[in-house]
Amino acid sequence: MPRSLDRLPFDVLFCITSSLTFDDIVSLSLTCRQLRLLLNEGTLCWRTIETHVPHSKEAKLAQEKKITYREAVQRTYERREAFAKASPFSASIIGHGSAFLYKQGILCSISGSSIRVLDIHASSSAPRTIELSPIISSVVSTGLAEAKISLLSYCDEILALHYERKAKPVDSWLIAVSTKVGTPDAERLVAKIELESSSKLFARNTASFLYYGTHSGVGTHGHREWRIHGVSLDAEHVIPAGTPPLQLEDFVGSDMGFTVAFEIHDGYFYALSNQTSFDVEEVDWTSFYHCVRFPLERPFSNALKTNNRIYRRQHAEGPINDSWTDMSLQADESTNALIIVESRREWKNGGSQQTRTFYTQEIAFPSNSSSTPCSQTSSPAVGPSAGPALPPDDPFVALLASDNNAHWAPSQPRYEDFTHPEYGPHLNDPARAFILARTKLRAYNLSCSAFVDFVEDDKCCSNPSSPAPCLRLRIGSRRLAPAIPDDNDEQPPAGSGKGKGKGKEPLQYEVPLPPPKSALDARYRYAPITMWPPPANACPCAARLHGILNPPLPAGSAYGKTLVGVVDERSLVYMLRPARSYDDDDTGGPIVLISFDRAIGRVWTGEEGAGDGVDSVMRDGGSELQMRSRWVAGRAEACRDGTCC
Ligand SMILES: *[C@@H]1O[C@H](CO)[C@@H](O)[C@H](O)[C@H]1NC(C)=O
Ligand SMILES: *[C@@H]1O[C@H](CO)[C@@H](O)[C@H](O)[C@H]1NC(C)=O
Ligand SMILES: *[C@@H]1O[C@H](CO)[C@@H](O)[C@H](O)[C@H]1NC(C)=O
Ligand SMILES: *[C@@H]1O[C@H](CO)[C@@H](O)[C@H](O)[C@H]1NC(C)=O
Repeated sequence: MPRSLDRLPFDVLFCITSSLTFDDIVSLSLTCRQLRLLLNEGTLCWRTIETHVPHSKEAKLAQEKKITYREAVQRTYERREAFAKASPFSASIIGHGSAFLYKQGILCSISGSSIRVLDIHASSSAPRTIELSPIISSVVSTGLAEAKISLLSYCDEILALHYERKAKPVDSWLIAVSTKVGTPDAERLVAKIELESSSKLFARNTASFLYYGTHSGVGTHGHREWRIHGVSLDAEHVIPAGTPPLQLEDFVGSDMGFTVAFEIHDGYFYALSNQTSFDVEEVDWTSFYHCVRFPLERPFSNALKTNNRIYRRQHAEGPINDSWTDMSLQADESTNALIIVESRREWKNGGSQQTRTFYTQEIAFPSNSSSTPCSQTSSPAVGPSAGPALPPDDPFVALLASDNNAHWAPSQPRYEDFTHPEYGPHLNDPARAFILARTKLRAYNLSCSAFVDFVEDDKCCSNPSSPAPCLRLRIGSRRLAPAIPDDNDEQPPAGSGKGKGKGKEPLQYEVPLPPPKSALDARYRYAPITMWPPPANACPCAARLHGILNPPLPAGSAYGKTLVGVVDERSLVYMLRPARSYDDDDTGGPIVLISFDRAIGRVWTGEEGAGDGVDSVMRDGGSELQMRSRWVAGRAEACRDGTCC
C-alpha cells in the first residue's frame, strides 16, 4: 500500500522534522494542506523554535507566552525571508534627532537636551521623553551650557552618555541614565564617573555592569594600549571599590569596527583585534586574531583569558583592500556562541580582481585543564606558549633575524560554512557593484546569512524633478542547499565542492580530514543580489517609498549628507543629517526605519488609532511629511490600483 508522508504517525513525523533545518520544515509544511496542519501542531512548532532559534526574539516571546510557538515559527520565517530577499514589510520616518542608538529594538535619540526612547519592536508603545537638564545639573553645576553630549551605549534600559564641556580643565563625565518606564526623574541617574581621558572612548553595558574603555594606557614598548574600566550598577553585582582599570597588554589596534571590536556577551567582556603584534614583520606567513575576555564581575588580569592564535588567513592568500574591511562580534541565534564576522575585499591569490568575502570564525579559549576540548574551527595551536612554529621547507626561514616575530600556522581549509563570497558562484554575471563612496552602510547578518549594503544609486531616480541619487538596499544571501542535489538543480556547485554532493558524481561519503563542523562541507544556494526599492518611476508606491527613504533635509544642507545606520536581524535604522561642521549639534536629521518584521511598528506610526508618536515626531516636520511618512508592503496589485498610497 502506498504510504504518503501525511499519513505517517505523528511520532515519525516528529522524528523526521527533528533532523531538518528550520527552512526545510517550513517548506515541507507548504507542500500540502495535510502537512501544513500537521506541522503547525504546537509541539512541533515548539520543537522547531527551541532547536533552531532558541535565542531569537521570537523564541523569547513564545517562552513568555506572548505569542504562540506557531506564530514564532511564522514570524521567524517571514522576517528571515524578507531580509534575505530584500523585501521589507514597511518603511517609516520614526523620528528626528542629532544622534541615536538602536539596540534590543529600542531607539534612543537625542535632540537638544532631551532623549527620546521608542520601543520599535513592541507595537503598542509610544515614545517617551527624558529631559537631560536636571540630570546633568545634578552631576555638573554648569549643566548643559556649552556642553556636548554623545550617546555611547544602550542596553537593558540603561543609557550611557558622555558629557564634555570645553572648559579649563575639561569637564568630562560618563553618565549612566535609566530609561525604565515609570522611574521618577530624580532616580534616573544610575552612575557618574569623571573621566581623565576620553581618547577613543567607548562603552558597553548590561543591566548590572557598565564597562568603558579609553585608548590611553602606555605599554612597556611605548605603544598606546586600551584601558578598560568596570562599574557595577546594582548592589548585587559588585566590583571591589578601587579596582584599577585593566590594561589590555599587547592588544593592538585602535579603530573600532576595523581593527578592534568590543562586546559584552553572556557574562563576559570580549575584546577582539585583527592583529597580534604592534610591529609589521618583514617575513611573516599567517595572520591571527587576538581575542581576550574576562568575566564581568572580575576585571582582573588573573581572570583574563587570551587567545592570540585564532586563525585568520595566510598572507599568501593575497593582498587586502583595507578600505572595505569590517569586523564585528555577533551572537549566533541558534547556539548563542559569539562569532567573529569579518568582511574583506581581497585580490585572491594575487589576481587582478578584487572580491569581497564574509568570513565567520568561532572563538575558543584554552581551558586551564590539559585536555583542551578544542573547537574544530579554531586554530590548532592555542595560547601564547605554543612557541615560534615555522613553516617547514620555506627558504625564508633561513633569513629570519633573531628578533623577528614571525607567525606561522599550517593553512586551514576554507570551508564554505564559514566563507560567504559576495557573488557566490555568479562571478560571471555579477550584480551591479557600487564604489565605496556610494556605499553608505555595510553589514553582514549571521542569522540571515545575508549581507546588506545601503547604497546611493544615481541611476535609479533619474527624473528631472529629483536628480539626486537615492538610497537603496542591496542585499545578497544564501541558503543551505539540499544535501543531495536534484537533477533540475541548474546552479553550478559553488566553491571547491570537496567530495560531497557534486553534480552527478556517485555519492560516496569519504570522510574528509579534519571534518568540518556541520554536515560535511555544506553546499549553499546563493540568491541573486537584490536591490530595493524599485525605481521611483516604476509605480506610485515606489515613488512614495523613495520619498520616505530619502526625506528632505533641513534647508541649507548644501554640503551633502552623512548617514549613520544600524542593522539588526529584523530592521535597518538610519539617520540622515547634513554634512556640516561637527560642533553644530542642533543640525539633526530624520531617522528612518526599514522593517523586515511584519509585526513591528504598527501603532506608534498611527496606522491603528492615533499614536501620539506621529504627532510629536511630525510636528516639526510639517504635514506633508506626516502624510508620506509610512509605507507598508501591499499586495502586488496595490501598485496598479494605487491603493498603497
Ligand atoms: C587589520 O585591519 C586593518 C584595517 O583594515 C589593516 O590595515 C591591517 O593590515 C589589518 N591587519 C592585518 C594583520 O591584516
Ligand atoms: C579553571 O579555572 C577556573 C577559575 O580560574 C576554576 O574555577 C576551574 O575549576 C578551573 N578548571 C580546572 C579544570 O582546573
Ligand atoms: C580600494 O578600495 C577603494 C574604495 O573602493 C578604492 O578607492 C581604492 O582604489 C582601492 N585600492 C586599490 C589599490 O585598488
Ligand atoms: C544580525 O542578526 C543578529 C541576530 O542573529 C543580531 O543580533 C545582529 O544585531 C545582526 N547584526 C547585523 C550586523 O546585522
